[in-house]
Amino acid sequence: MTGIRMDDGRWEALSPGACLPAFLVWAVRVRPYELIKAKRDGKQLAPEDIRAFIEAYTSGAVPDYQMSALCMAVFFRGLNAVELGAWTQAMLRSGEVVDLSDVPGVKVDKHSTGGVGDKVSVSLAPLAAACGVPVPMISGRGLGHTGGTVDKLLSIPGFKMDVPVSEYRRLVREVGCCLISQTSAIAPADKKLYALRDVTATVDCIPLIASSIMSKKLAEGIDALVLDVKVGSGAFMKRAEDARTLARTMIGIGAEMGRKVTALLTDMEQPLGRAVGNALEIIEAVEMLRGRAPADYTEVTLALTAEMLVLGGKASSQAEARQKMHAAVKDGSAVRKLKEIVQAQGGDPRAIDDYSLLPQARSTVDVVAAQPGFITGIDTEAVGLAAVALGAGRQRVDSIIDPAVGFTLLRKEGEPVVAGEPIVRIHYNEPGPLEEVKERLLGAYRFGPQPPASRPLVLERLE
Ligand code: URA
Repeated sequence: MTGIRMDDGRWEALSPGACLPAFLVWAVRVRPYELIKAKRDGKQLAPEDIRAFIEAYTSGAVPDYQMSALCMAVFFRGLNAVELGAWTQAMLRSGEVVDLSDVPGVKVDKHSTGGVGDKVSVSLAPLAAACGVPVPMISGRGLGHTGGTVDKLLSIPGFKMDVPVSEYRRLVREVGCCLISQTSAIAPADKKLYALRDVTATVDCIPLIASSIMSKKLAEGIDALVLDVKVGSGAFMKRAEDARTLARTMIGIGAEMGRKVTALLTDMEQPLGRAVGNALEIIEAVEMLRGRAPADYTEVTLALTAEMLVLGGKASSQAEARQKMHAAVKDGSAVRKLKEIVQAQGGDPRAIDDYSLLPQARSTVDVVAAQPGFITGIDTEAVGLAAVALGAGRQRVDSIIDPAVGFTLLRKEGEPVVAGEPIVRIHYNEPGPLEEVKERLLGAYRFGPQPPASRPLVLERLE
């Protein structure tokens, strides 16, 4: 009689000739416990063990608590290039690797490492598509203190993002863009892991971010990718050196897989634009496509979309890309493309013209400046956490978010204020968390007698 040793140390008998599932064959040879311990102690993991661990986690054979422990070990010990390659490949191959080669054109996507008020994808995708670049885009939910494109888009009534792969392929071909959430078809390992890392303090880890982003992006059928690596108090990478390392790591993974990847390091020392919160950010994104959005958000969107146009062969230079984008905003084709996308994905396109059809908070209240002077800085992570506390993001994997709530930032860095002047408008439904939210927001704003030195919005470009 043969048997297998279970995680609790028991032996389970197998009848003679029984065929072991792949995970059990691996589990007999290397137990998850041993792998976690090896990484915890700084040892290098074998690629086949990483692959087997991720496969087993995706199928449910390795439980969340063991994956959390491995992620925490990776957080402290890192992954070398071979381990990272194996980890990314295993996540990429955990589901379908979509082939879009029958869709004409160079398919280009963009991914952000995450920020506060970062609604760039919502305006960039239709803008690039209106300029002729096919955009297959897989997006994530909010993560930690950062917002997610999925949560923002789902605030449009009826909009669906769990689109089957066949429909996704058809929409990229026929509409020029499809925005999907992570399904169990494409990179399901990342879908599970993303939610787990969100609640186990293992998000801000370069190899885990790089493999998460690159696995899903490489699985969605792209030819090229533009990365928006955020730097600052509202980003996972607070320092430019770390953001640069993350960007280089992802560019390296892309190069291994034969994809062109360029990265912009962009400022996240303060929220992008003035809206924070899902439906509020949709309105600001639509306003961008009408040429009426705040300058910082508009500039970051144009800089990233220009990269997409050049990679996609629709412009030979950044200057030409900018001309095309300005024309698409001016002649209305950018906003029309957004409506087309919304309609194609089951949403109500009237909400793009009539914002009252989007979720609206019942009440607003203003946070006022306690002293006169200038806004010298904003702790952006604190603003993101205040939005989570208000209900715009999740505190637990299964929290239900309120799409209507959020903030309008009436004053941002460098702007003058008088004492008692409103600096942030809170849009809320439940008064319960209001006092905590106000306190967090007031604590996030720094005041001083002089405006701070201005910073570039795009810090660096890497390719
Ligand atoms: N965005 C992702 O897709 N994954 C991460 O881990 C962080 C940001």
